[in-house]
Formats: sequence, structure tokens, C-alpha cells
Amino acid sequence: MPEETIAKTISVAAGVCVVCSIFVSTAAVCLKPIQATNKTLDMRKNILIAAGIISEGQKANVDELFKRVNAEVIDLATGEPVEGLRPEDFDPRKAARDPKQSIAIPPDEDLAGIKRRSKYRIVYFIKDGERIKRVILPVYGKGLWSTMYGLVALGADMDTIESFGFYEHGETPGLGGEVDNPRWKAQWVGKKAFDKNWKPKIRVIKGTVVSDSPDAAYEVDGLSGATLTARGVMNLVQFWLGDEGYGPFLARLRAGADHG
Ligand SMILES: Cc1cc2nc3c(=O)[nH]c(=O)nc-3n(C[C@H](O)[C@H](O)[C@H](O)COP(=O)(O)O)c2cc1C
Repeated sequence: MPEETIAKTISVAAGVCVVCSIFVSTAAVCLKPIQATNKTLDMRKNILIAAGIISEGQKANVDELFKRVNAEVIDLATGEPVEGLRPEDFDPRKAARDPKQSIAIPPDEDLAGIKRRSKYRIVYFIKDGERIKRVILPVYGKGLWSTMYGLVALGADMDTIESFGFYEHGETPGLGGEVDNPRWKAQWVGKKAFDKNWKPKIRVIKGTVVSDSPDAAYEVDGLSGATLTARGVMNLVQFWLGDEGYGPFLARLRAGADHG
């Protein structure tokens, strides 16, 4: 019987660790392309939901239906399309971290709590011939625990909210996680986003909207027990619809500039 020594025990344990780590890292490297494909598919599915082309939970050929969606990279400062930059070649999250591709947001304007924003963003449209029927704007910002990523869809008037929801967040299920509650999301549909000077007016109030109040068209019920997440949602929506966000782009669409 071979003699048991501490050195032997340690070397067997180390050997097991090395073999396991090779397995884990090989799996991570091999699965990366599949994860990237699934992420793109999931994003496309959420865009189709925001576009009103499919409903939540519906099985669909996402890649086929996504051909109906027009995507474009825009310069947020001007609202103009960025020539020669295809949406599939642009990673907005990477750009937001890159000092060359992003700008710092002054703290008093940083409603979304994101500190920097990329100069460019991808926007999505649904068209009826040459007419834009719906524009889908990716938005994000701080909740209580996490950065929340969502999509706001505006109708042809660039004012009425047609769809709203998050596709990624880390808020507490049952509290801040109620941002995913279909009944809460449904409240946003039909609300007006802007005042008569095209400043963002939509807000999440504490409590319940009084239906005959003059501002009811701009108000959404708060989330009980999750006021901080709800405030984060309101702030990030206001930020992205404002001058630092998609404001110049929406102004250009409202002015009826050629788009295509
Ligand atoms: C474990 C734990 C998780 C919580 N998660 C959230 C959350 O995700 N979002 C949120 O706004 N508040 C969350 N809260 C509650 C907040 O601390 C805070 O009390 C709440 O936002 C206030 O909302 P209210 O004024 O509607 O009660 C959490 C509290 C606890 C103890």
C-alpha cells in the first residue's frame, strides 16, 4: 500500500483543480459565440414586442420578422444618422465605456445616473411605406440595485407611448422587479411623453393616478414598496427623451426631415 503524505494529497487536489479549470474555461470559450447569438436573438425579440409585431411569450421566427424593423446608428448631439456605421457593427454598451466614443454627463443633468453616455445610439423604426409608424428607443439608467435596460416605443406623433418595458434589470422580485408586471407596463401605453414645448413630461407618481386630473395623460401609478426603483424608471425615461438623449433625433423626425 503506497504511503499517504501531505505532499501527495496536495498534488492530487491541485491536479483536480487544474483539470476542472481547463474544462470550465474551455466550456466558457466554446459557449461564448452561442451566448452572443442568444443575446442578439433576445434583443431582437424584445424589439419586436416593442414594435407591436409580436406579443410577449409568442413563439415566432424572430430573425425573419426582424426584417420588418429598420435600424440606424444616430449621433445623439445632432439626431442625424451616422454615415458608414452599421448597427450590427456598433456596440452601444462598449461605446459608453470608451472615453473616445462617449461623453461625460454633467451631474445636474445626469437623471439616469449613468455618468457617461455614448455619442451614438442605435434606434429602430417601423415604417408604413415612407411614413414612420413607430420609433423604438433603447433606454437605460439606475434603479435601486441595478442598471435597468429597456425600450420605449413612440407612435407616429413622436409623443404617444405605444410600448414600454425592461429587458434586463436586477431589482428585487416582487418590489422593484414589478417593473416587469404586465399590468404596470400596460399603464404606459397611450400616455403622452411630452409637454407642449416638447420637454419630457411623463412621470411616475407616488400612489395612483387620478383619472380626471389634468395631468393624468402624463402620469403612471407608482410601485408600492418600490418607490426608489419607480423614481429611477421615471428619471431614466425623462433623461433619454430629453435634450441629452434622443431629443434632437425626435425633433428632427417631428420636423419631417427625410429619413430612411
Ligand atoms: C431586501 C429589500 C429589497 C428591496 N428592494 C427594493 C427594490 O428593488 N426597489 C425599491 O424601490 N425598493 C426596494 N426596497 C425598499 C426600499 O428600501 C424602500 O423602502 C422603498 O423603495 C420605499 O418605497 P415606498 O415608499 O413605496 O414604501 C427593498 C427593501 C428591502 C428590505
